[in-house]
Amino acid sequence: MNAPAKATSFNPLRAEWEAHWLPMPDPATLDDIPGDDGAPIVGNTLKMLKDPMGFAQNMVATHGKVYRNKAFGGRQVALVGPEANELILFDRDKIFSSEQGWGPVLNLLFPRGLMLMDFEKHRADRRVLSVAFKPEPMRLYADALNDGIARRVAEWSGQRLLFYPAIKQLTLDLAATSFLGIPWGPEADRINKAFVDMVQASVGVIRKPLPFTAMGRGVAGRKYLIEYFSPMVAERRASDGEDIFTQICKATDEDGQYLGVDAIVDHMNFLMMAAHDTITSSVTSMVWLLAKHPEWQDKLREEMLRVAPAGQGVGHNALGELELTEMAFKESLRLIPPVPSIPRRALKEFELGGSRLPAGPMVGINVNYTHHMAEYWPEPKKFDPMRFAPDAVRGRHKYAWVPFGGGAHMCLGLHFAYMQAKIFMHHVLTTHRIVLDDGYTPDWQAWPIPKPRDGLPVRFERLG
Ligand code: HEM
Repeated sequence: MNAPAKATSFNPLRAEWEAHWLPMPDPATLDDIPGDDGAPIVGNTLKMLKDPMGFAQNMVATHGKVYRNKAFGGRQVALVGPEANELILFDRDKIFSSEQGWGPVLNLLFPRGLMLMDFEKHRADRRVLSVAFKPEPMRLYADALNDGIARRVAEWSGQRLLFYPAIKQLTLDLAATSFLGIPWGPEADRINKAFVDMVQASVGVIRKPLPFTAMGRGVAGRKYLIEYFSPMVAERRASDGEDIFTQICKATDEDGQYLGVDAIVDHMNFLMMAAHDTITSSVTSMVWLLAKHPEWQDKLREEMLRVAPAGQGVGHNALGELELTEMAFKESLRLIPPVPSIPRRALKEFELGGSRLPAGPMVGINVNYTHHMAEYWPEPKKFDPMRFAPDAVRGRHKYAWVPFGGGAHMCLGLHFAYMQAKIFMHHVLTTHRIVLDDGYTPDWQAWPIPKPRDGLPVRFERLG
């Protein structure tokens, strides 16, 4: 294979290319890999956006599980199935860069977030941030989640509402307390607005911060949050706050040193981004799937009432008892994974399934495709939480289910996500039935993060 060439083929619609990144390879280095470049200029971008799953199925059927594709301005290699997931996510030989995979999309707004770091630096910062997800602080977040969710579910009671925007707002409000330690109100609203502007910009088409563009608003939002959080770090170190921000301000590394102010602010911005749309998307899919399968609402309610009385929610200690609820959440994450694909950059040559691949290209694993492979998931479209019963899990490839990724970059907030989903569902299902309009089916937008285009109208019918 040819040596990597200069970064001249870099896509101008993407963020800046960092000086220490591997230069973009000559696209011709991928000529030997079976695949399809699609139409001139746009490649397969439009086909992929229209029907990402159908596109991947067609490519795998035609070219096999390692295929070349051209989309979003460049050539890349897709690696499909549990073996590929394991190779890339576990990354025993430190071949795959997460920073250079996600960086072109996220670096302008979320630089130096945990997912935008590699290897030793990543390991050291991850260790510091992990302090915020230990059982003791998690117990306190659980209490704050129970309070906030109870209040909001009481407002929704008996209403027909658009669930997606409602849970999005609730997740933002809950993050104000659990993540930032500030009360709901105008200050939290201003922070939420700056933050939402950043998230929207991160998936916008125009990557330059021009006036009146999403990226322009996103960059202004980032500036606002930096100016808001930076002066608070010293004060939080001296406080006994019970939120994630305070935990991270107070955490120290292996040498007993605090993280710097800039690093804390960058990590906080990234954490909020990583948590926000993913929780919103996953709880929305679970509500939709349970509304469509009311018999599962009954089964979960029965389990929930054995753990805590109706409407009281669950404390951190009891979360493990909600086994069936966890299985239903896992099945929702299988059917509609909030992060449908995960990008990396190959820093060295590597081999998969007999194919030798060069250093340099963007490579991606396809979470959603793997979650629908019939050889691992019989009747893949069927909602069946029993797929996650312990016996069924034991017999399956460990990397056939990867909604939270795996290996060194495995989602740091996955227990927080389970916790919020379980607490939310306990409050809702022990007091309400979730009902859809007759004959209703949502139209899901598949990419970049799945959501119902019409907001998912549902009714919260109070149980008699
Ligand atoms: C259902 C909800 C969630 C899903 C599906 C999800 C999914 C993911 C995935 C797939 C990754 C790995 C990406 C990669 O390897 O490139 C990841 C990483 C991460 N997630 Fe989550 N996430 C969720 C919720 C959360 C929450 C609630 C938080 C924070 C409280 C969080 C914080 C993070 C962080 C910090 C990383 C980067 C970890 C690292 O690079 O070491 N996530 N998440």
